[in-house]
Amino acid sequence: MLNKPKKMIVANWKMNVTSQKDAEGLFLSIRNVVSKLEYTQMICCPPHMYVNQVAQHANHKNYRVGGQDAYPEESGSRTGETSVLMMKNAGAEYVILGHSERRHLETKLDISRKVIAVLEHEMTPIICIGEESRDKNWKKVLQQQVKDVFNRVPKKNPENIILAYEPIWAISSDKKNPATSTEYMEALEVIKKESQKIFKTAKAVEKIRFLYGGSLDDKNIEDFLKNANVDGFLVGRVSHDPRILMTMFRLVEDHVQKELFSISE
Ligand code: PGA
Repeated sequence: MLNKPKKMIVANWKMNVTSQKDAEGLFLSIRNVVSKLEYTQMICCPPHMYVNQVAQHANHKNYRVGGQDAYPEESGSRTGETSVLMMKNAGAEYVILGHSERRHLETKLDISRKVIAVLEHEMTPIICIGEESRDKNWKKVLQQQVKDVFNRVPKKNPENIILAYEPIWAISSDKKNPATSTEYMEALEVIKKESQKIFKTAKAVEKIRFLYGGSLDDKNIEDFLKNANVDGFLVGRVSHDPRILMTMFRLVEDHVQKELFSISE
């Protein structure tokens, strides 16, 4: 385990933090706890205009900064856009791409161009995919998303890619309807099989990191920790609640520690 990357919690603040003061306050309120974690890392993804400010405090390997999107060109006449280069220069090392809350604004080609641009700028894409509902076609939908996102992407460094399974039916719904670890594992099997066709070997696919996201909190994270093969989590609603986040970090740490203990026994 010690040779494996740390488990990650990606905190997608979405549009829920609305001032510099709040962004800084929120980040600083969790920073001390996160810096002491042994097996877990936080990737904080503030709204674009606070990335730079948060990144100035992100001077520890346990907490890094990501953007919530980026335009796949460096500069130009693109009113209102934030380019990959601007994101990188602001201090982001990760970029969330293809989030379902943005997919209506972009085509699948846009998303794959963004993935390529982020990789070219030596940042890590956190690519979101997920079906709208578990109807009879859900596996096909997922397979198509994998193809769309990976077909054009360079295949040589899969360890630089993070894929988040975020079923749309589970994200931020008022009812709170997270997937179960079983549903996640079913989806992971589909995603890995399809990825293997594209990356050619199972070994390459094993290097991609897989996250779960969708109505995740301190009450349901243990189901995933105990029963799923997951490298981390993408959280929205609870990402700006320090108390819940701290509990989640503690649960992840305890779980990994127990796992290590049982291996060494
Ligand atoms: P949620 O959001 O945790 O509020 O469901 C997850 C996401 O949209 O990434």
